[in-house]
Amino acid sequence: MATRSTGAPRHTKVAIWLHWVIALSVLANIGLAMLTEDMPRETHRAAMGIHKALGITVLGLSIVLILWRLGHKPPPSPVGTPAWQKPVSKVVHFLFYALLILLPLSGWVWMSAADRPIDFVGCSRCRRSWRRIRAWPM
Ligand code: HEM
Repeated sequence: MATRSTGAPRHTKVAIWLHWVIALSVLANIGLAMLTEDMPRETHRAAMGIHKALGITVLGLSIVLILWRLGHKPPPSPVGTPAWQKPVSKVVHFLFYALLILLPLSGWVWMSAADRPIDFVGCSRCRRSWRRIRAWPM
């Protein structure tokens, strides 16, 4: 656990960065999904490609954040926090983590079940090239 210049405990820099990158990516992804609804077919497809890649990034970063959190104890609640808020905040945080994993995972499962490849930063293209290389007659 890191401390402020005042000596008060605070979240580590890694946890703070991961928190904000994930939060902004989730908001951007919701906005992107909403915006694509009225787009022409090709633009919609391209935008959804970004949506899926960003979603998978959120999934990866959320796993990193959870693992980081397991190894780095968060600071205690501020002095004066009502006792009832402590268990409630634990439950809310747990639900947020569950959503951060289950939401992108459900999109991934959906796309996999529909046999629609996810082009994660050119990854499906790499896989296709790899398959072509392996199929090359020796
Ligand atoms: C942070 C992660 C994600 C968030 C917050 C998110 C959010 C959303 C939202 C708000 C919609 C619009 C729902 C509607 O209006 O009906 C949507 C649609 C969709 N999402 Fe995601 N999503 C995430 C990750 C993913 C991932 C990882 C995939 C697939 C790999 C995915 C695939 C899709 C697809 C295929 C649609 C339907 C688009 C359409 O109507 O054509 N999403 N998502």
